[in-house]
Amino acid sequence: MSMTNNKVVPQESIPIIDMSNNNNCEEVEDAICDAAEKWGFFQVINHGVPIQVLEDMKDATYRFFELPAEEKVKYSKENSGTNNVSYGSSFSPDAKKASEWKDYLSLLYVSEDEAQATWPRACRDEALEYMKKTKALAKRLLNALMKRLNVNEIDKTKESFFMGSIKINLNYYPICPSPDLTVGVGRHSDFSTLTILLQDKTGGLYVRPDGRHGWIHVLPIHGALMINIGDALQIMSNGRYKSIEHGVTANGSKNRISVPIFINPRLSDVIGPLPQILARGEKAKYKNVLYSDYVKHFYGKPHDGKLTVQYA
Ligand code: SIN
Ligand code: FE2
Repeated sequence: MSMTNNKVVPQESIPIIDMSNNNNCEEVEDAICDAAEKWGFFQVINHGVPIQVLEDMKDATYRFFELPAEEKVKYSKENSGTNNVSYGSSFSPDAKKASEWKDYLSLLYVSEDEAQATWPRACRDEALEYMKKTKALAKRLLNALMKRLNVNEIDKTKESFFMGSIKINLNYYPICPSPDLTVGVGRHSDFSTLTILLQDKTGGLYVRPDGRHGWIHVLPIHGALMINIGDALQIMSNGRYKSIEHGVTANGSKNRISVPIFINPRLSDVIGPLPQILARGEKAKYKNVLYSDYVKHFYGKPHDGKLTVQYA
């Protein structure tokens, strides 16, 4: 991947949407849907998640990664005692393919009690708070996106379908001595319904909307959250909303943190183009697929996930 070559078009920027309540609600909803159709990526400001919650989340992320190695390793997949908590390193000297320069803590939310019992104290309360506040934002975004597809208000059943499983990742990209030889994260699209991402001011996230524009840098904006459509929503919307490729460059002079929340369907759900869309006579572009199969495939071949369920 060469996200920093001359294909980057610096004058282009992904949309920044002001979701403040003072703004006309329909205009905000239109901007969200337009961005999801055209770009698949956008930033939101005045999104209802208090800035202090974001600042606390960033502090907590640093607090966790600054713990001594022997403390952090207690949360590795092998040691954490649960599949829902996993700390790991993409640049471990033992890793066969040391291609990504990143440290992460992955926390799958199952219940408040489970989180209290298993998540690291260094970041647990902040992560739970960030997750709760962000969930309300996710609902607001999904409501707007569904309205354009003529899918009525997201009730409890639909809510569990679109956002039945929520995972938070704390990412730490340490200064890299040879940033040209590696990447922070290789190019991929997310398999989520929606991803909501908090990043610090370092920068390094690049996105490539449908290949037309080359790689575009996502400028860090204080207090903003970055939203992207994931594969699941592209499939459910029958291709209307776009899940696009992105990746993170390695940095030779600064550490970077980011905290994405992945809003996912449940692994046991079958996903496919929404019946409301097909009922209007639109031809299905994707086959139905058990979400756990989709995810399994993603880990094998992250670049062509959607192709595997696409009709020829
Ligand atoms: C990712 O897409 O996997 C990470 C994004 C980021 O760190 O900004
Ligand atoms: Fe991603």
